[in-house]
Amino acid sequence: MDICVIGAGYVGLVTSACLAYLGNHVTAVEASSERLGSLKKGIVPFFEPGLQEFVKETIESGFLTFTDSLEGAVKKADVIFIAVGTPSLPNGEPDLSQVMVVARAIGGALDGSKRRIIVNKSTVPVGSGNWVEMLVSQGVQNAQPVPARSARPESPSFTVVSNPEFLREGSAITDSFYPDRIVVGASDDNAVDVMKNLYKPIINQTFEPPSFAPRPAAFQTVPFVVTDLASAELIKYSANAFLAMKISFANEIAGLCEKVGADVRQVAQGIGLDYRIGKAFLNAGVGWGGSCFGKDVSALMQVAKEYSYPTSLLEATVSVNERQRLVVIKKLQEELKILKGRTVGLLGLSFKPDTDDLRDAPAITIAYQLLKMGASVKAFDPVANERCEQLHPNLEITYCDSALTLAQDCDAVVLVTEWALFRNLDWKGLSKVMRWPLVIDGRNVLSEQDVVDAGMTYRGIGH
Ligand code: UGA
Repeated sequence: MDICVIGAGYVGLVTSACLAYLGNHVTAVEASSERLGSLKKGIVPFFEPGLQEFVKETIESGFLTFTDSLEGAVKKADVIFIAVGTPSLPNGEPDLSQVMVVARAIGGALDGSKRRIIVNKSTVPVGSGNWVEMLVSQGVQNAQPVPARSARPESPSFTVVSNPEFLREGSAITDSFYPDRIVVGASDDNAVDVMKNLYKPIINQTFEPPSFAPRPAAFQTVPFVVTDLASAELIKYSANAFLAMKISFANEIAGLCEKVGADVRQVAQGIGLDYRIGKAFLNAGVGWGGSCFGKDVSALMQVAKEYSYPTSLLEATVSVNERQRLVVIKKLQEELKILKGRTVGLLGLSFKPDTDDLRDAPAITIAYQLLKMGASVKAFDPVANERCEQLHPNLEITYCDSALTLAQDCDAVVLVTEWALFRNLDWKGLSKVMRWPLVIDGRNVLSEQDVVDAGMTYRGIGH
């Protein structure tokens, strides 16, 4: 199939490479000349395990190309994916300006040679399927003003479907090839058939797995869920909101565990074994972050607001998370009493491991708060130091290139992001160079015994 993917960001690029790997001719359209230049050379401008090699491989196979010509790519395509960004506006609503520009441009580029399927892959509010359809029609009309579409047998024919994305940063390729489900919202049976055909190798798991993304043991077929447009849009928001709520629940229980002398890790295990609850996303810590959870929860609240519908659970999900980020500050105060003049080392900056993404990262909130309270902040992230320095020039952090240099002269070290290399640090070595031997485990991933054996004080979350 000929595919056009508009927007070569996280979702667009991964989607493009995966569909190309499955044997489709994919043209990825990227408006930023800087990003386009890198991609044409096979250089991925952000960190995602395996993606660099994968993109290079699919370019070399001839199935993936990059362009800035939306018109040319749309004209060739059978299926057109919209995968541009929808960041949050200050009021919590998503900024749909890129979707708007792209939808109209698609309309302007369509011709009557075949019926196109336009796929909303970007996370967009409920009702956006209809809105995109209207914008594409406007683009069609602006390009070729005619009195009535039906009067032109050659006039462009298209349908809009919603195909939300559920991939996680850090495991984007694996999530794309081995998803829990594929959701397609459509009002057109033919479009559903085309989408099912496109995803057939994934649904039936008939493709040869890439060497770096082996098929998980016992992984079989993937449910293909067909819904109406609005339901597909709501599935995306609800899934992220539910996951965020689950984490906030674990964090709220963590606080209670500390009061009553229980251990949230044991509680999470005990409740997670109930299949109706499930054990994933119950890890208490410094809270959730990233580009999706906060954005999607607030977009969902905005939709509800339009209908004067209360969203108490969503509000609590956000407020528990805001409070949770500062729990480590409280622990530092309990142990060190005064934070003014202290030096605190942050292990990890990215919002989670295996990514250099700093959007809504708890580490940034913690760093700002510590600086506000008069402490000095050092940080070591295996991939995100440089990006943090660029994005937050006013954040007075001393960046370090190892855990040992980080620990030097620190009054406390706080693990914020659970990068694998932090799990087995040489605590004895670190303890020797620290001013005060305090370790706050903001993700409950360290061995308390190892830290204590090194003569240090260990504080976790919820135990
Ligand atoms: C999330 C969803 O998991 C994806 O399904 C979705 O496609 C994606 O958003 C999106 O909308 O694009 P992502 O933001 O990449 O993916 O990261 P997650 O792995 O979901 O983690 C989100 C945050 O929750 C991280 O800060 C992580 O540290 C935190 N977390 C996760 C916890 O604090 N505890 C947990 O138990 C799990």
